Amino acid sequence: MKKLSFLIIALILVSGIKVKADEGMWLPMYVKRLNFIDMQKKGLQLTPEEIYSVNNSSLKDAIVGLANSPKPSGYFCTGEIVSAEGLMFTNHHCGFDAVQKHSSLEHDYLADGFWAMNRAEELPNEGMTASVLIYMEDLTDSIIPNLSDTLSKADRKSAIKEITSRIKKRASEDGKYNVIVKSFFEGNEFYMFVYEVYKDVRLVGAPPSSIGKFGGDTDNWMWPRHTGDFTIFRIYTAPDGTPAEYAEENIPLKPKHHLPVSIDGVKENDFAMIWGFPGGTERYLTSSGIQWKMDYYYPPLIDAFGKKLEVWKTHMDADQEVKIKYASKYAGIANGWKYFIGQSKGVKDLGVIAEKKAFEDELEAWINDDEIRMEKYGAIMTDINAANLDKSDGIEDLIYASICGISGTDIIGYAQKYSGLQGMLKQYKEEKDKKKKAKKEEQIRKAADNMLASLSEDFKNYDKATDQDVFAAMTEIYFNEVSADLHPELLDQMEKKFKGDFTAFADYVYSNSFLSDSVAAKEFLNDPSLKVIDKDPAFLLMQGYMQIIMAAGAEYGEKGKGLHDAEKLYITAIREMEPDKAFYPDANSTMRFTYGQVMDYSPKDAVNYNYVTHLSGVMDKEDPDNSEFFVEPKLKELYETKDYGPYGTKDGKMVVCFLTNNDITGGNSGSPVINGKGELIGLAFDGNWEAMSSDIAFVPDMQRTIVVDARYVLFIIDKFAGAGHLVDELTISQKMPQPERTEMEVVE
Ligand code: ARG
Repeated sequence: MKKLSFLIIALILVSGIKVKADEGMWLPMYVKRLNFIDMQKKGLQLTPEEIYSVNNSSLKDAIVGLANSPKPSGYFCTGEIVSAEGLMFTNHHCGFDAVQKHSSLEHDYLADGFWAMNRAEELPNEGMTASVLIYMEDLTDSIIPNLSDTLSKADRKSAIKEITSRIKKRASEDGKYNVIVKSFFEGNEFYMFVYEVYKDVRLVGAPPSSIGKFGGDTDNWMWPRHTGDFTIFRIYTAPDGTPAEYAEENIPLKPKHHLPVSIDGVKENDFAMIWGFPGGTERYLTSSGIQWKMDYYYPPLIDAFGKKLEVWKTHMDADQEVKIKYASKYAGIANGWKYFIGQSKGVKDLGVIAEKKAFEDELEAWINDDEIRMEKYGAIMTDINAANLDKSDGIEDLIYASICGISGTDIIGYAQKYSGLQGMLKQYKEEKDKKKKAKKEEQIRKAADNMLASLSEDFKNYDKATDQDVFAAMTEIYFNEVSADLHPELLDQMEKKFKGDFTAFADYVYSNSFLSDSVAAKEFLNDPSLKVIDKDPAFLLMQGYMQIIMAAGAEYGEKGKGLHDAEKLYITAIREMEPDKAFYPDANSTMRFTYGQVMDYSPKDAVNYNYVTHLSGVMDKEDPDNSEFFVEPKLKELYETKDYGPYGTKDGKMVVCFLTNNDITGGNSGSPVINGKGELIGLAFDGNWEAMSSDIAFVPDMQRTIVVDARYVLFIIDKFAGAGHLVDELTISQKMPQPERTEMEVVE
């Protein structure tokens, strides 16, 4: 390659030609081989061993996968350890569910925030776990040679299970570790991940939602953003340092590594890498796969979820208690709903399908160029297209049936819990043998007692009037959208009885079902009766939905059968076509890193978005009449007096968020954004609206990660909440101020 002339280099520097955004969610164990040189060029100062090492402490030891299971195989969010005492940062929207569970009208931590002023005040969160990766290993060569090509999908699955079970057992060291094996590149490669799972994770601090969720659903998935999206937890262990369930005697985790926090701030083009647990991408999806999503999969989701949100919102706006109860479910569905809309729009606006088609043409030309390749790969695209076409028939029915029927309302969801009990009551009735009958009775009593014990939990986030309105709306959609042959008999009877008035239908169900409120449910459980449950309208409807969905689901499962095999072959082919390209596997809730730079973007002609936002922007967005844009008086006061402590910029500003060109997705929420020295500079919490199709196609010019600046996080903890003791626990990194240089005149 010719050397660039000095003039050209100068021109590039001046005009600031953009480096392409950095695609790729890379596996940590390959950092040295695949990425290190490139990372160094972009500004990384750490060695590969400082990043990922199995035997010595390294950066990966500070990265945490968050889950609600003691043996998770996936993580809803990422956290990072930031102190020698097990303190962990993640996003506010990741801790939202935990904060919601601790909230009530008396202690509205969602609205007011929560700050433990000492360790004793930190709140345990039942079921929440924090996984730290010990090591990962490539199992491809132990698995693939043992799988013959002729195996059916089911046989293949059980063969993999058999091969890995021994390996997993050994790696778990008698249950000490949680061992997960996952398939990569559609079954072309396999890796094992060995985790330590901590089970005592306590809530330490959360800002009020007006900071942690500032901008609400309006600003969600959008830039410019002004959200302080962080929450603080602490991981505890048994006194001997091993993972343990919550116990008072537990002590804060002594981590192998914790991230120092930089308060030097970021500049454009600064190196930035993000570590975490991206949940899922479909970057190798073909054009017909995307078309299937656009035409059949997303429309019913958008339609039904949109309606549900509308009904919920009416009730939440009218009643603060309902608002607290429904906050977490609402946030989850609203986030997904906007995602589906944005992704559909992104696919259209960015011409994703045409781009994929062009690539597929290229692939086909390459295949057709060689006879052996034609034999091996000749049918791939036809097979994939045919499978996607096959899959389009019946999917809308199934989606509507599941969202509006079986999981449409809390009452139907709750009714499912009674199936077992109803079965026992039936057996009891039919049993002739006296002894056996007595035993059944005992069983029934026990089951009912168990359900009584969880009654208050079951109804904790339920509001009868809200659920009833949701029922009316969801049932109407079910009736209108799902094919008539998939209507439970009772649905059609009721529709007739109430002459298509679904409000009246709902009123009937909620007035006559013991499942509609906790008092009636308690009464039933105190004296369970087959007669009562067998004519309960909610229970009967649930049974009807269940039967239909099971049958339709099983039938649908047969569709598009060859898709997986064809997609696996497709990936084999594209990797063979470009042998020199480093491919990264789709996200699958395993640890990955992505690296790039701090960077602005231009969403459309003549519009350029700066890469940082400031506290002044919070004040600009303030709207006292809209709870999404409410600003705390205390925050205003700090802004007016510019009381930013060491966290402001030299010119007296407070940075709130910034952008990078990193490649992340859901599950990366809460992930640390790390500078070239391995220090925390922010927490990743979102992606931008213009690149919502990024989960199926990365768009370099457009795709950005939205990050809350570490300085804003510390400012809120320290100055806003007065929880400076938490900042004292961190390892703060700050460049020494440089003396100003005065040019001396040299007299000769
Ligand atoms: N879009 C973000 C994500 O999927 C969640 C942001 C939460 N904030 C909100 N206003 N709902 O990770």
